[in-house]
Amino acid sequence: MEQTNAHRLFSSGLAWIERFGGDWLLSYQEETALDRVREEIPAFQQATGVLSSRLFGRFVPVQNVERSAPVLLDGDAGAGLETVVEEGGVRYGMDFGAGYSAGLFLDQRANRAFLRRMSPKKVLNTFAYTCSFSVVAALAGAQTTSVDLSRKSLDRGRSNFTLNGLNPVPDAGHRFYAEDTFDLLPRLARKGERFDAVILDPPTFSRGNKGRKFQVEQHLGDLLALALEVATPGAKILLSTNCSRMTRKNMELLARGVLRSRRQSADFRSEPELEDIPAELAAKTLWICLKS
Ligand SMILES: C[S@@+](CC[C@H](N)C(=O)[O-])C[C@H]1O[C@@H](n2cnc3c(N)ncnc32)[C@H](O)[C@@H]1O
Repeated sequence: MEQTNAHRLFSSGLAWIERFGGDWLLSYQEETALDRVREEIPAFQQATGVLSSRLFGRFVPVQNVERSAPVLLDGDAGAGLETVVEEGGVRYGMDFGAGYSAGLFLDQRANRAFLRRMSPKKVLNTFAYTCSFSVVAALAGAQTTSVDLSRKSLDRGRSNFTLNGLNPVPDAGHRFYAEDTFDLLPRLARKGERFDAVILDPPTFSRGNKGRKFQVEQHLGDLLALALEVATPGAKILLSTNCSRMTRKNMELLARGVLRSRRQSADFRSEPELEDIPAELAAKTLWICLKS
């Protein structure tokens, strides 16, 4: 098993590299950028002593629907595509054959660390993907509720719990819902469930159950309003987006509007930018710290 933090190594214009243990993933938006970064790799390895055993490449299309799984560019083609990486002592399963994303979003590292330091009691992780936020919260002692449309992603989330010695079952305080966040949130609210941390990290666009369309610029405010219904006084809510047309400032203005309409108030904070991830490649994120 790899004993290393996973982090982005360097970027060059329209291509960048992320490191997942011994595996590197090169993402490129143009073929020419791919060639340029590949040329830089030997010098980078020599200068840093950071070596890769395999290099995967993936094209980053403008349209999400055209996304495809990474392909092996260099290294042992016979080795398994599933590995385990470690970040801050927490283990995550990777799968380079599972689709466009291999299992862990590196740009959320500081937010995962913040959630863990916060030691919440009850966490709601919406759009949970492989449940990395739930895992760090559970390690800090929280009960967790993870929701995602993809049953497969939640199965990988359960495996991430197990990898970290956590029991991913309701009796141990960990629930997993394979459904639309927009269906689950009102149901939890009606049942009177409340959470002291809520993660809202939706994709830019998705089609949910019953063909329901989600477009982050149009619907992030509605999502936040639903989340506020299940938030305890003093709860912390993470708003996050990769949408290139949204900024952290936009998100704060939107959040202020939603809070004002509900006569609620909050402080806002963001984790400092990560030194190994260029800001233009990272998700825009904002913690809304509700006043009690
Ligand atoms: C950007 S990823 C979330 C990444 C995750 N927060 C993390 O840090 O690993 C978006 C996820 O949202 C899920 N998704 C999209 N639309 C959804 C919906 N309406 N309800 C629940 N999950 C949804 C997708 O299946 C995908 O796993």
